[in-house]
Amino acid sequence: MSEEFAIETEGLTKRYDGVTVVDHLNLHVKDNEVFGLLGPNGAGKTTTILMLLGLTEPSEGTARVCGYNPTREPIQVKRLIGYLPEKVGFYENLTARENLKFIAELNGVAYGEIGRRVDEVLEMVGLTEAEVMENASAARQREKTVGKYSRGMKQRLGIADVLIKKPKVVVLDEPTSGLDPKGINQLLDLIAELPGMGTTVVLSSHQLYQVQRVCHNIGILSKGKMVIEGSIDQLGREAMAGGRFSIEVETVEPNEALIKTVQTIKGVGDVQVEENRLLISTDTDLRAEISKAVVQMDFPLIQMKIQEFSLDDIYMKYFKEN
Ligand SMILES: Nc1ncnc2c1ncn2[C@@H]1O[C@H](COP(=O)(O)OP(=O)(O)OP(=O)(O)O)[C@@H](O)[C@H]1O
Ligand SMILES: [Mg+2]
Repeated sequence: MSEEFAIETEGLTKRYDGVTVVDHLNLHVKDNEVFGLLGPNGAGKTTTILMLLGLTEPSEGTARVCGYNPTREPIQVKRLIGYLPEKVGFYENLTARENLKFIAELNGVAYGEIGRRVDEVLEMVGLTEAEVMENASAARQREKTVGKYSRGMKQRLGIADVLIKKPKVVVLDEPTSGLDPKGINQLLDLIAELPGMGTTVVLSSHQLYQVQRVCHNIGILSKGKMVIEGSIDQLGREAMAGGRFSIEVETVEPNEALIKTVQTIKGVGDVQVEENRLLISTDTDLRAEISKAVVQMDFPLIQMKIQEFSLDDIYMKYFKEN
């Protein structure tokens, strides 16, 4: 296994009572990237995460996190990873600051540094004065206890909690669940900043459209198997055999010569004919090149449409097929 990956698994497998829920997973998460672990409910995302953290043992295969084996070296792994579980738990009758101080102490942050570090992470996650202060009279300004936090505030506090020990890797299980669009965006903006601070991020989600903008690479799990893994561009090419764009040209009686000419345009994949329409798969937007070729061959260009497959189309395709 190589050094350039923050997380690497080989044949990682988990069975519960003979049922395989994570099936020979080969996962690769590069240093300082945001990796999206995607898949529908029950795909095996949380189980995978628990194995990476050393919280449950693989039935087969191995994992490496920052070079350590989570099963054999759980302490090293726990020191380096920050984990935000699906359900975040805090002491509801303490304030954010009190909760964070407690976590900082538990994580061995030096006593003299705790106050500063707590301020730093609160600032990072944008838990501002206005939000955390009780709506009491000015004379008795008090911070709210966490029990009075909204879901979005709790999620951000969860991230603060994870960041307090300056982890090399953070693993966030469904961090956007239950948040409104504004909350999701705030959280994603925060996640997007982490690689710049030297932190690798793995986030799980079953809603690709929500998280795709911050993920450098994604892996889609379906029934415990990795059905596709890679960068978004790569996935587009692999999933939509032939290309990520579908260009439709309406003309009159297209012939073999026209099809051949279109096929020779660089970047054109498959070309199909349906009555007076050419259906062309391409890697990039080749409308200009294609229309030029059609007109130069003296075919009328009646209409042209382009459709770009989004990641969600890819996602749907995989979930339908698997
Ligand atoms: N402790 C357990 N004992 C038995 N089966 C389990 C256990 N934990 C998970 N499973 C099963 O493993 C499968 C994968 O579950 P997992 O929680 O990893 O999925 P997930 O991708 O995180 O789903 P979700 O999006 O709902 O969180 C499910 O069928 C689940 O019922
Ligand atoms: Mg889960």
